[in-house]
Amino acid sequence: MSLLQTEGLSRRVSPQRWLFRGLNVSVAPGEQLALRGASGVGKSSLLNLMAGLDQPDEGRVLFKDKNLAQMSQTERLVLRRTAFGFVFQAFHLMPHLNALQNVMVPCLLAGVPFAQARARAEHLLGALGLSEVSEAFPAVLSGGEQQRVALARALVHQPEVVLADEPTGNLDPETAHQALDLLCRTCREQGTALVMVTHSVEAAARLDRTFVLTG
Ligand SMILES: Nc1ncnc2c1ncn2[C@@H]1O[C@H](COP(=O)(O)OP(=O)(O)OP(=O)(O)O)[C@@H](O)[C@H]1O
Ligand SMILES: [Mg+2]
Repeated sequence: MSLLQTEGLSRRVSPQRWLFRGLNVSVAPGEQLALRGASGVGKSSLLNLMAGLDQPDEGRVLFKDKNLAQMSQTERLVLRRTAFGFVFQAFHLMPHLNALQNVMVPCLLAGVPFAQARARAEHLLGALGLSEVSEAFPAVLSGGEQQRVALARALVHQPEVVLADEPTGNLDPETAHQALDLLCRTCREQGTALVMVTHSVEAAARLDRTFVLTG
């Protein structure tokens, strides 16, 4: 069974320009899929569609055989809050919350008790080498630190699938290696599926399968 799947998915960004047409991509429960392709080919757009954050021009996206477009807005919202974790290419941390609070948000939205949310967030921040900056606000964090906070936030509520857009793109090779290790290991431990955009062939090779998006 596939957990998340696209069927004949197409996205058009102008009357003359289709980013992709008739795309069939799927990820099974717990599977780790790398998504590669040249810059501008539509990887981030595909992730947005898979998350139900955007509407396809053709085709559909199914989560456990349910068409995202046929869910109510509330159903989609609840699904995203509970079953999905995101690492956006531009992080999108909340500027008025410190690192720890940012990581706790998905747990609190999913109804995890405060103390447990805090413990999980502290654990993940520690594993990513961020204990010392857990009280810092995003504005004073480096790009790589923000990226690792975003990574912890995507994992903390133990979602069924993590959609990660170049989650190690701003990290030096050593930190990138560690962050990717943590991402893959945590997903395996939690049985979380992973769809990860990456330009790195080495990073892609560590996952179960690679899908190359071509223009
Ligand atoms: N809503 C939109 N309206 C018009 N153009 C769009 C829209 N969304 C995306 N595009 C265009 O579609 C193309 C694909 O963008 P996207 O961000 O998905 O690429 P990407 O593969 O993630 O690239 P990168 O590797 O640089 O992150 C870009 O040329 C972008 O400008
Ligand atoms: Mg992108």
